Amino acid sequence: MIHIFNKGKDRAKPTFLMLHGTGGNELDLLPLAGMIDEQASVLSVRGNVLENGMPRFFRRLAEGVFDEEDLLIRTKELNEFLNEAADKYEFDRNIIAIGYSNGANIAASLLFHYQHALKGAILHHPMVPRRGIDLPDLTGTNVFIAAGTNDPICSPSESSELQTLLENAKADVVLHWENRGHQLTREEVEAAADWYRNL
Ligand code: MLT
Repeated sequence: MIHIFNKGKDRAKPTFLMLHGTGGNELDLLPLAGMIDEQASVLSVRGNVLENGMPRFFRRLAEGVFDEEDLLIRTKELNEFLNEAADKYEFDRNIIAIGYSNGANIAASLLFHYQHALKGAILHHPMVPRRGIDLPDLTGTNVFIAAGTNDPICSPSESSELQTLLENAKADVVLHWENRGHQLTREEVEAAADWYRNL
């Protein structure tokens, strides 16, 4: 997968996995990593799917309607890529995903399908990636969700549903609300940074 790896100053820190939104690329979220912890290593990946020229991490049939078969294939592909990257760049799977929108959705899908894919995740405006499956035991996994009370793409009830599904799988989840829409705000990144510092 097309990506950037920036080796951090402190190898004991987690590695941040940056996952952009629809139409973004691996450069978009780099400033967020620095706002959370400037000493951590950063692996920033570009989605392998193109929708009218816009990179994404998996196909969708319509807005908010995921192509489940492709979601599964792409989630596996990303999980395998993380193994390869961990070997190549010599980091362990102490990975915290930081994703926005479509990138948050594939990060949530990693949590839903692979027990040790991530140590934690900061999910900006995620949706429920899939319903009707048993999640792995996520004991010890920390998740921060930032949601918007007026988000037209992800309703407040869907944000709460995602929190419940993850908590039922024993993840430790914080749900942070902004009185905004789907946009990624500085305030929610600062809230994520506070959450990270208290882990
Ligand atoms: C998705 O397709 O993952 C969601 O609708 C969010 C987005 O617009 O990317």
